[in-house]
Amino acid sequence: MKNILITGGAGFIGSHVIRNLVNKYPQYNIVNLDLLTYAGNLENIADIETKSNYTFVKGDICDKNFLTELFRKYDFYGIIHLAAESHVDRSISDPMSFIRTNIIGTITLLNAAKTAWKENYNEHRFYHISTDEVYGTLGSEGYFTENTSYSPRSPYSASKASSDHLVRAYYHTYGFPIVISNCSNNYGPNQFPEKLLPLIINNIKCNKPLPVYGKGENIRDWLYVEDHAHAIDLIFHKGKNGETYNIGGSNEWTNIKLVNKLCEIMDVKLNREKGTSAKLITYVKDRAGHDLRYAIDSSKLQNDLGWTPLVSFDEGLEKTVNWYLENEKWLQNVLSGDYEKYYQNQYLKR
Ligand code: NAD
Ligand code: DAU
Repeated sequence: MKNILITGGAGFIGSHVIRNLVNKYPQYNIVNLDLLTYAGNLENIADIETKSNYTFVKGDICDKNFLTELFRKYDFYGIIHLAAESHVDRSISDPMSFIRTNIIGTITLLNAAKTAWKENYNEHRFYHISTDEVYGTLGSEGYFTENTSYSPRSPYSASKASSDHLVRAYYHTYGFPIVISNCSNNYGPNQFPEKLLPLIINNIKCNKPLPVYGKGENIRDWLYVEDHAHAIDLIFHKGKNGETYNIGGSNEWTNIKLVNKLCEIMDVKLNREKGTSAKLITYVKDRAGHDLRYAIDSSKLQNDLGWTPLVSFDEGLEKTVNWYLENEKWLQNVLSGDYEKYYQNQYLKR
């Protein structure tokens, strides 16, 4: 059995990646390394925790000694590195935690793998998961391609850009086996309710104001999280050594149009009169340095590896809204921090 290390597998995207890999590849032993920060939640992957090809390890990607031991124990074939601080607003109020996890954590992980794999780099793969935000912001036209110059504008995107540069530098300097992907905004079940979609869905449900930054004219390119997980599977197995692949939904929405769409869906779901939820929309102070528009050109991934997103936006929103409405307990646990109790019960008392 090949040992594969997934970092950040208790987070939003990581949990979907793990579920897909554990179910699809019984010949892999998937090791999920996660520190369980506020964003990590083992309930996200409760359905696969008893599978024989899955192991959870609590730990910090910044801890060199811990990683050395982990690599000794598991002899990893490959790594899919998702662990990160991921929320732009938090990076504005607390940039240092982003520098620590996203930059120091990534280089500490690179070094652990480089040491463990020094005899045979070409038999391994280090896959770094990144974001379209490293490219900066677009005007009303154009798309980010793999050749777009980096121009990050928030502490979050600057820390992710820095980690991308380090990963690429290890390829050029040491011949270390890497692949990188940069994806647009994900949405779907299990996303922490600090991010736009789950926050709006929850606030509509609770009749709370719907905070829209600035004039709501900023544009994001939305992709259903399972389509991202499938792209990651494909790139991990078929991506070319040293290459970068952009992943996007070709699905651009201004924030205000999207919030209005969610209001319409929720009015129907909650049996409210048409227009009720939209009355909750509240324009608030803009995010500092708010990037205007992200839009991804994913033609390289589509042409070279045959990827295509499978879930339409209407279908994805329907699944997402239903999931949040049906998983009230998940939401309450996340909001109250009670998922820590779940971890204690499931693992520490065994
Ligand atoms: P998330 O915040 O939901 O999850 C991050 C996970 O990393 C959590 O489980 C957390 O506990 C873990 N973690 C944090 N610090 C750690 C540390 N020091 N050691 C070990 N684990 C640690 O994030 P997400 O939205 O799932 O994003 C996952 C990755 O994908 C990130 O690298 C992010 O930059 C990238 N990405 C996200 C999006 C998006 O729309 N969410 C889009 C493109 C790329
Ligand atoms: O583009 C990929 C990135 O998408 C990922 O790398 C990040 O990890 C992920 O968090 C996401 O970043 P954004 O900043 O685009 O996502 P967020 O959900 O925070 O915000 C989406 C848009 O909605 C953005 O223009 C800001 C706006 N917004 C957000 C919140 C939380 C609001 O108007 N009101 C809000 O309350």
